[in-house]
Amino acid sequence: MELFKAINTRKSIRKFKKKPVEKQKIKKIISAATKAPNSENRQPWKFVVVKNKEKRKKIAEISIIGGAERYTAIKDDLNKKFRKIPKKKRKELIERFTSGKLFHFLYQSPVQIVVLADNNIIYAVHSCSAAIENLSLAAHGIGLGSCWTMIGCINPENEKKIRKIIDYPGKNWEITGIMAVGYPDQDPKLRKRKPIEEVIDWQ
Ligand SMILES: Cc1cc2nc3c(=O)[nH]c(=O)nc-3n(C[C@H](O)[C@H](O)[C@H](O)COP(=O)(O)O)c2cc1C
Repeated sequence: MELFKAINTRKSIRKFKKKPVEKQKIKKIISAATKAPNSENRQPWKFVVVKNKEKRKKIAEISIIGGAERYTAIKDDLNKKFRKIPKKKRKELIERFTSGKLFHFLYQSPVQIVVLADNNIIYAVHSCSAAIENLSLAAHGIGLGSCWTMIGCINPENEKKIRKIIDYPGKNWEITGIMAVGYPDQDPKLRKRKPIEEVIDWQ
């Protein structure tokens, strides 16, 4: 896929087909991730490919708890944000947020790729974020969908639990992204961005 087409058509995917993702394709997108700019070329990352059902379930469960914690705390803001939606629909939607059910897709995706930053290395999180964008675009370019998910990591205790599940308990490690990856089973609209004039500051 042409580069700008990939950039302009990528979108987060939160519904996946059951079809497993071929190992070669997983390697291909991780290889693309490692080509990202990274501080001092120290490559401060690890890509943990979680295919194991039990582990995926546990990670999804923690993310669901994280989602419930986050959105219950900001329920009033959600009500404001969705005020234009009819009452019954709005209530259902907010319930999906505050129950954390919204994040069940992490379990549904056939693979999760947990991207870990090694904070013993300078600018590790920045470098990993660049890698994740490459990974997302590469996935899209070969017909896979992905969603960068951090809801399970807002609470540091939850983040620690997820690292324990994948066997990275060391304090130097920080989860930079839990990528749900799989064949898309939805085609959501592209999310709008702020007008370019609003975000550029020519000096
Ligand atoms: C740091 C970061 C954390 C994110 N965490 C979540 C998340 O926990 N759950 C989720 O569904 N999407 C998450 N997203 C995806 C964003 O919601 C999504 O990128 C944004 O709404 C724009 O939509 P698009 O990717 O379809 O263009 C995250 C994205 C980033 C960069």
